[in-house]
Amino acid sequence: MKWFFLFLFPTLAFAQPTKEQQFRISLNTVIKNSTMPDVRPGMVVASPSRSNPDYYYDWVRDTALTYRAMVDYYELKKDPKIKKMIFTWIDSEAYRQNQPTFTGLGEPKYFIDGSGYTGGWGRPQNDGPALRAIAMIKFARILLSEGQQNYVIQRLYHGVIPADSVIKKDLEYTAHHWREPSFDLWEEEMGMHFYTLLAQHVALQEGAKLADELGDGGAATFYRGESAKIAQYLKSEFTDSRIGILTTLRKVNGGLGYKNSNIDVAPLLALLHNSPYQKLFSLNSAPVRKYIEVLTNTFAELYSINKAFPSMGVGIGRYPEDRYDGYATTGVGNPWFLSTLALGEYYCMVGEKSKTMKQFERALFHSDRKGGMSEQFNHMTGHMQGARELTWSHNAFMTAMMRCRFI
Ligand code: NOJ
Ligand code: NOJ
Repeated sequence: MKWFFLFLFPTLAFAQPTKEQQFRISLNTVIKNSTMPDVRPGMVVASPSRSNPDYYYDWVRDTALTYRAMVDYYELKKDPKIKKMIFTWIDSEAYRQNQPTFTGLGEPKYFIDGSGYTGGWGRPQNDGPALRAIAMIKFARILLSEGQQNYVIQRLYHGVIPADSVIKKDLEYTAHHWREPSFDLWEEEMGMHFYTLLAQHVALQEGAKLADELGDGGAATFYRGESAKIAQYLKSEFTDSRIGILTTLRKVNGGLGYKNSNIDVAPLLALLHNSPYQKLFSLNSAPVRKYIEVLTNTFAELYSINKAFPSMGVGIGRYPEDRYDGYATTGVGNPWFLSTLALGEYYCMVGEKSKTMKQFERALFHSDRKGGMSEQFNHMTGHMQGARELTWSHNAFMTAMMRCRFI
């Protein structure tokens, strides 16, 4: 019977893509957002949406995460088309690193011609250079294993000061600025953040290894030392018996004022984005377990859409006090696709795949069921809102699929 309806209404076949179909669609969407015809080659728009909200810019963080996934995908499939995209991305990052900006490499957001954004913004955001370095170091390793040492030395890591290669510039910036407060990944609060610090720790740790391999021993010692100091700071200050892991300390000027619980999906994202490199917080450790429990219970309670469909996984937002509804900061926060999928990815990594499937089910249920994903879905109605076809939402799906070894 069913095939008969499919024959009459072929689109029904796409009513809810399988996770493998969704992976394909997400990959294609990421590629599309990374190859917009009016955008400088190698740059990625956060979303094709040019108004309400205008996300037609390249954020260093979003792009670094996009290309981390591309590098992971290249490692799996060795697809030459993806490799070519990665080389183009490296060229565009090298270009953008040389642009004058208000905050140097900490500048978070760029116009689509590669110049730094000139409007008011929460800057600097020092997770960007660290995330970019982590993705590029991984790619450098792959190139070395493929025998492309010349490219690595000329373009990626060259042991001279002042730095004239992309990775080294980011490592120098990170090593010299991690002690300074910067804006968090949500671009709202200036302070010291678990998310930013863990990425900085890992970038310097992995950078030190690469520097050693490429004969830059002095720099390696310096990076390793700074990485260890960050580790020490994270370990001693950011765990908490009540909520497991803290999000932000030492807020400058009081931060947002209304964000007080210190419960945020950002530490979860940090653990995932720095996997498999970070060894400070095991995913099964007591503080991480506690944190995941608190995070999940908080959002399960907060959003009525979670209670309306209790058999599915939990729609996770950014943090409970969030007022950003995808358009303005005068509303109330919602569950985000990337947060909901992150929890699914976490469960894979601790061997609880049935919970992963529930998180996938939740995310895909609120998608447009044809593979489209915006930034958020409404906490009461479940309908999508915020920037359409958000690169990061699709990237989160791809990453979860790869981590779960479904791909
Ligand atoms: C846009 C930012 O990207 C978002 O994270 C923030 O909540 C709003 N602006 C309000 O600052
Ligand atoms: C808002 C998010 O808060 C921020 O993390 C992101 O970089 C931008 N949107 C662009 O996607």
